[in-house]
Amino acid sequence: MLQGLAETGYVIIPNFLGLSDTRNLIAECVARSEEGDLRPAAIGRGSGKNIQPEIRTDHIHWLEPGNLSESQTLYRDKMEDIRERLNRTLFLGLVELEAHLARFAPGGYYKPHLDCHKQTKSRILSAILYLDEGWIESDGGQLRLYIDTTSGVNGPWIDIFPEPGKLVIFVSAEFWHEVRKSSRFRHSLTGWFRGRELVN
Ligand code: OGA
Ligand code: MN
Repeated sequence: MLQGLAETGYVIIPNFLGLSDTRNLIAECVARSEEGDLRPAAIGRGSGKNIQPEIRTDHIHWLEPGNLSESQTLYRDKMEDIRERLNRTLFLGLVELEAHLARFAPGGYYKPHLDCHKQTKSRILSAILYLDEGWIESDGGQLRLYIDTTSGVNGPWIDIFPEPGKLVIFVSAEFWHEVRKSSRFRHSLTGWFRGRELVN
């Protein structure tokens, strides 16, 4: 599967986590939400960072490396395994993972964007783990991934259904993508493998 990533720049891994863990992660996200512990996600970084609900509507909670739940620890360990394999086979020099739980309320979306901040190239790979069960086509909420990195949003795309336990990985600086409008609550655990900071 990681070979596919080397060839096309993205890969879809079904059943990366099992249902008991995806359920725990949703429950943790919902609990955070009820405790008022989710924050509206921002765009940009540093002083250019701001909240723009016309671009993205999700609320997030960053995982705290020293304070992980059991399911978060399993996720972290499995991601660490992927990180080491990628470094061994593709020499990507991935140094760490940052990850947040994300919740879109009904009507939510995230307009087309790239994940890599303009000023740095520190986000090398994006990895999104979906958590919700029983998703159907009319729920919307697909990840639309524009697979031709030269034409971006003007080129072909694939729509990826947010099925529980599915992990999607792609090159952060190259793939335009968006979250289509979702008619139900949508939960994910989204992470980025970072490389060494290369400030231009
Ligand atoms: C993101 C993002 C996509 C998804 O958080 O940057 O693009 O499918 N998420 O949740
Ligand atoms: Mn993104």
